[in-house]
Amino acid sequence: MQIKKVVFPVAGHGSRFLPATKATPKEMLPIVDKPLIQYAVEEAIDAGFSELIFVTGKTKRSIKEHFDASLNLDISNITEPKKKLFDEMNHIIPEQVSCIYINQEEPLGLGHAILQAKPIIGDEPFAVVLADDLIDSKKGVLKQMAEQYVDRNSSIISVQKIDKKDSILYGMIDTEDSNVNMRKLTGIVEKPSQEDSPSNFGVVGRYIFSNEILSFLETISFGAGNEIQLTDAIKKIIATQSVFAYEFEGTRYDCGDKLGYMKANVEYALKDKKFGRAFLAYLKEKVL
Ligand code: G1P
Repeated sequence: MQIKKVVFPVAGHGSRFLPATKATPKEMLPIVDKPLIQYAVEEAIDAGFSELIFVTGKTKRSIKEHFDASLNLDISNITEPKKKLFDEMNHIIPEQVSCIYINQEEPLGLGHAILQAKPIIGDEPFAVVLADDLIDSKKGVLKQMAEQYVDRNSSIISVQKIDKKDSILYGMIDTEDSNVNMRKLTGIVEKPSQEDSPSNFGVVGRYIFSNEILSFLETISFGAGNEIQLTDAIKKIIATQSVFAYEFEGTRYDCGDKLGYMKANVEYALKDKKFGRAFLAYLKEKVL
């Protein structure tokens, strides 16, 4: 079954990225020339999702404006190449794909944000994408996961090996023993200390959920960081149904973090067809 709905929680404070995120959502920060949220949206569209649900907060108007067809092609002095570019920019979202914007009054955590989308999600399975986790991969990670979902019909969360001292930044998982890249989840804890972390695998911002996760989200109270944590609902659901941890193929950049963001910009700039070589020459001159 093709899953149609994908939730983009975009109402966070972006406090790790202040002052840039004081008036601009962190998801609008560009990697080279494209905002993070557009990379995430393109990944979802490429994976076949057709209903994009944005859970937005008070500084998030720019996200809607970004995806609206808002560039005026009728101005008198517009040149043909510019017209073509503007037209392209007005069609980032293909016609068969729809966008829905929901306001999250207060940023009370990732779990709370997802719950705001419940009336739109209805009784279907759905995906969640955290746009500040940018993943460079041959095949989009959401596509990799959607294919796996079709085979298993079970929730899947994406994970990667991390440095254990960074456990305090992630949902950290425990799984059944196995060498394969898809393992049954047996435990999960949000941002534990290095000592309390069950493994060195951390959750990355791509999830596909069976609809039941919403009922569990409704029952949890404030957890780590005094927020309604998605992790706590996952912890509950694994007592009733299988959830799989998927070690994806691709390189992930934590763009909610200044260093991660700068690394992503350098890597994507180096790959840029137009000026990648010139940028490399510049970097060599600078550092060698
Ligand atoms: C969220 C989740 C966490 C996950 C992380 C991935 O945390 O709560 O479990 O590991 O995203 O980026 P946040 O980064 O929003 O604090």
